[in-house]
Formats: sequence, C-alpha cells, structure tokens
Amino acid sequence: MKQVILLGAGGFALEVLDNIDAINRLTGEDIRPIGFIYDGAEPDKGKLLHDTDIPVLGDLSCLRNYDLEHIQLVSAIGRPAWRRKMVEKAKQMGAKFTSIIHPSVTISNRAKIGEGAVLMKYVNVQSGTVIGDFFAADDFAGLGHNMIVGDFVHMGPRVGTEGGAVIGNDVFVGIRATILACKIGDGAVIGACALVNKDVPPNVTARGIPARHYAMKEKKY
Ligand SMILES: CC(C)(COP(=O)(O)OP(=O)(O)OC[C@H]1O[C@@H](n2cnc3c(N)ncnc32)[C@H](O)[C@@H]1OP(=O)(O)O)[C@@H](O)C(=O)NCCC(=O)NCCS
Repeated sequence: MKQVILLGAGGFALEVLDNIDAINRLTGEDIRPIGFIYDGAEPDKGKLLHDTDIPVLGDLSCLRNYDLEHIQLVSAIGRPAWRRKMVEKAKQMGAKFTSIIHPSVTISNRAKIGEGAVLMKYVNVQSGTVIGDFFAADDFAGLGHNMIVGDFVHMGPRVGTEGGAVIGNDVFVGIRATILACKIGDGAVIGACALVNKDVPPNVTARGIPARHYAMKEKKY
C-alpha cells in the first residue's frame, strides 16, 4: 500500500484521482490518497471533497504533521505557474513526489521523463524525447520523437506534437492543439485546437489556425 497526498484539489485533481483508481484496478497496485492540500485550505479542513471520502488536510503547513519519508505527494494542479509555485514550496518542506502513470501510457525506451509526472490514458512519448520535471499530459496526448520539453509543462487531451518540437518551461497547451516542429517559449499558452506552425515567443497566448500570437491579458494558466 502506498499512501499519497494530492497537492491541489480542483478539476485536475479529480482527473488524477480517476487515474489512481484506474491504476489500482488495472495493475493491482494499492495507491491510497489520504487527503488534499491546497493554498487557503485551512477553513475547509476535514471536509470531504468531490463526493469522495478523501478529506482536506489543510494548506502546505500541515505537511509538518506527516512522515514525508513514507508518504509521497502527487502534483495535481493543472496550471503550470501555480503547480511550480506549490511544488517548489512543498519540496522546501521536505516533500517527495511520485509519478502517476496510467498503464495504457507508452513511453519509448529511448525517451526520458523527469520526476512528478502525471500521465493520463493513452499518452504516447516517442523515441529520443526528453521531458523535464512535473510534466502533466491528459488523455491521448502524443509527443513526437526527439522533442525537448521543459519543466512544469501541461498538455490537454489529444494534443499532437511533431517530432523535433521544443517546448519551454511552464507552457500550457490546450485541448487538441497541434504543434509542428517549432520552439515554444517559456510561460506561453497555446489555445485549444490551435495549429502552431511557427515559433512562439515566451509568455504570449497563441491561438487559431494557423496560430497567431497575442499578449496575455492575465496569467490564467
Ligand atoms: C486561448 C485561451 C487561452 C484564452 O485566451 P484569452 O487571451 O484569455 O482569450 P479570451 O477568452 O479573452 O478570448 C479572446 C478572443 O479569443 C477567442 N478565442 C478564445 N479561445 C480561442 C481558441 N482556443 N482558439 C481561437 N480563438 C479563441 C475568443 O473567441 C475571443 O475572440 P474575439 O476577440 O473575437 O471575441 C483559451 O480560450 C483556451 O483555448 N484555453 C485552453 C483551455 C484548455 O484547453 N484546457 C484544457 C483543460 S485540460
């Protein structure tokens, strides 16, 4: 039995819970989420969230109450910038993270992926691709060969990427976006269904077919 704490409690955390259920059901593993931690959670302490029997434990300060040698954390925050902030704070407190990888995921023997990944159903990572830490990819996201992907990147469901694409740190890629062999700058947001066929500068939103670049009004992701 492996006890884990979920860092995050929003929609993406719900998907992570489903992923854990599927892993347990399909592989015979016994991963047990014992609670949610999130910023500002103190007033909700003890509440059961999302029709589960899993309680809110509190904010990050409650990590002090747990044996972090034996209980690992799962990164369950969708937005890259927020994920980075919370994960870095938790690590400073001694937390260690485990990856949550659905058994249908295929990762080439010649690909590399960093710590704390969350990979949902049928994600595929092809040969020669190197992915940083705290990567998350939703159902059917496909990463081509020889890609370089930074830390804290999030890919929505059915994202497709051409071999050789380079994706910076803290990039959010929306549902069904297609990225050809281009370079995406740090902190960029790729809109749902975009077709990215040229390089995207850091910290802009790219949307449409072909994608055009827009200044970010607010940092939503
Ligand atoms: C593109 C996106 C990031 C929003 O960016 P934004 O700059 O805040 O955009 P707004 O919502 O203010 O919309 C601005 C314009 O972009 C258009 N727009 C929004 N999303 C778009 C998209 N994906 N593709 C094309 N146009 C889009 C809006 O219709 C609006 O057009 P208008 O100016 O003609 O009215 C967002 O709509 C999006 O696609 N997010 C991805 C969501 C997702 O895939 N989540 C995955 C969950 S796992």
